[in-house]
Amino acid sequence: MRLILLGAPGAGKGTQAAFICQKYGIPQISTGDMLRAAVKAGTPLGVQAKAVMDAGQLVSDDLIINLVKERIAQPDCAKGFLFDGFPRTIPQADAMKAAGVKLDYVLEIDVPFDAIIERMSGRRSHPASGRTYHVKFNPPKATGKDDLTGEDLVQREDDKEETVKKRLDVYDAQTRPLVDYYSNWAKTDAASAPKYRAISGSGSVEEITQRALEALAS
Ligand code: AP5
Ligand code: ZN
Repeated sequence: MRLILLGAPGAGKGTQAAFICQKYGIPQISTGDMLRAAVKAGTPLGVQAKAVMDAGQLVSDDLIINLVKERIAQPDCAKGFLFDGFPRTIPQADAMKAAGVKLDYVLEIDVPFDAIIERMSGRRSHPASGRTYHVKFNPPKATGKDDLTGEDLVQREDDKEETVKKRLDVYDAQTRPLVDYYSNWAKTDAASAPKYRAISGSGSVEEITQRALEALAS
């Protein structure tokens, strides 16, 4: 199974990716998690990406495309993968097409922007694993601690309200066009295009997982 999870910042891509990847036994490729790991490690990529990410803008297409091409060449991607937060621009989607990367599904998770602001303000993350919680909607067993490791949870630098608004604007301008890109491709060339499925991301985490798994079986 090779799929893209498409959705606005805070739509629940990371949350649902964990369940989908477990079900299909595939790795989650989150460009956001990869970039945050590079920032933490202080690599040249991380140094370059940090200011852009903190401002809610997108890292350059060339950097991201190279990062993903290297990642999908790893042996654990042979049986499939899930893209979370990638592609995010038309050039990134075109680069996958040009590289002949075949995809089975594009799954869009749709959540209204006002619900997103509330989700992001309460988000807490475990940086080492990418596991995500919410103080109200999906709390960890022990306050401020990751369920599996007991390590501290952190708030993301780009989850400040002003930055969240900027990220939503950037989504509208640069990523939302991918909805038409993939749904039109599926309509015009069903043989080579990935199947396009859209689900509502409103409701409980469990309800959305069920919708996602049903969509991927249809
Ligand atoms: P990235 O890490 O990809 O962030 P994003 O797309 O903005 O998405 P988020 O991770 O914020 O949200 P999510 O959809 O994963 O939601 P989550 O499951 O956490 O990118 C960060 C930055 O990196 C970008 O701004 C850019 O600078 C750079 N970047 C990354 N990829 C790039 C690319 N391809 N090109 C260029 N630049 C790139 O859920 C959110 C919260 O809601 C959590 O607290 C969760 O517990 C809660 N929640 C989830 N589901 C529910 C529910 N059903 N009900 C209530 N709460 C819920
Ligand atoms: Zn995420």
